Amino acid sequence: MRRKLFAANWKMNLGPAQARELIRAVRAQLDPQSGSLLKDREVMIAPPAILIPAVQQELAGASIALGAQNMYFEEQGAFTGEISAAMLKAYGVTHVILGHSERRHIFGEDDVLINKKVKAALRHELTPVLCVGETLAQRDGGETTRILTTQLLAGLGELDAAQVSKVVIAYEPVWAIGTGKNATPDQAQREHGALRGTLVERAGRDVAHSVRILYGGSVTAENVDSLMSKPDIDGALVGGASLKADSFVRIVRALTV
Ligand code: 13P
Repeated sequence: MRRKLFAANWKMNLGPAQARELIRAVRAQLDPQSGSLLKDREVMIAPPAILIPAVQQELAGASIALGAQNMYFEEQGAFTGEISAAMLKAYGVTHVILGHSERRHIFGEDDVLINKKVKAALRHELTPVLCVGETLAQRDGGETTRILTTQLLAGLGELDAAQVSKVVIAYEPVWAIGTGKNATPDQAQREHGALRGTLVERAGRDVAHSVRILYGGSVTAENVDSLMSKPDIDGALVGGASLKADSFVRIVRALTV
């Protein structure tokens, strides 16, 4: 059984006071239930890097993992503006989102760079959340499968099967991100099934069936249950709806209420 993972990607939102308030509000609802609810699921929150110390403090004693939205692959040195895996680890970070479509499309990150980051994360025992997703033009051009396969295989690069088993994949169709237009559960299931098929070929059945594949793109309190009812959808990577305690907590409670 794959434990579901519900992950918040706050993107470039909130200040320190708002971040603390949001974590407190989420904890007020989730902490009393953590024994039962979090038995079969995990929760992760990825704030902007500068808010990581404040969020780490607010998460003390909670069953909620701390994530980063990005990092650089080098160990240290003259890389102005960048943050290393070791720096993240020093603040209790356990997960790092890599290859998000905003990193790919706004900041020009390519598969080669993303693979270096995935390898660096694993070297430091951080869980990489490797994002893949097609644009609307690629979908309309019938290229979805080719794009997803390429991004997945290039992102994994030369990793061996044991390393692949430590990666979380997030399918985030670019056309669904921040648009209010989520992939339908059937559409998402089709792509998740295809991604898992590629993982079977790449790393074998056992590993492929243990890897979580999250869906991201306009996930809301209203649509989460139907998405999570699909067999190959193992959780959600949530942007906008993670900025409000009520909607994020409802998403975390998917299929239980
Ligand atoms: P939205 O949930 O705001 O569509 O963002 C999805 C996303 O990009 C999460 O990483």
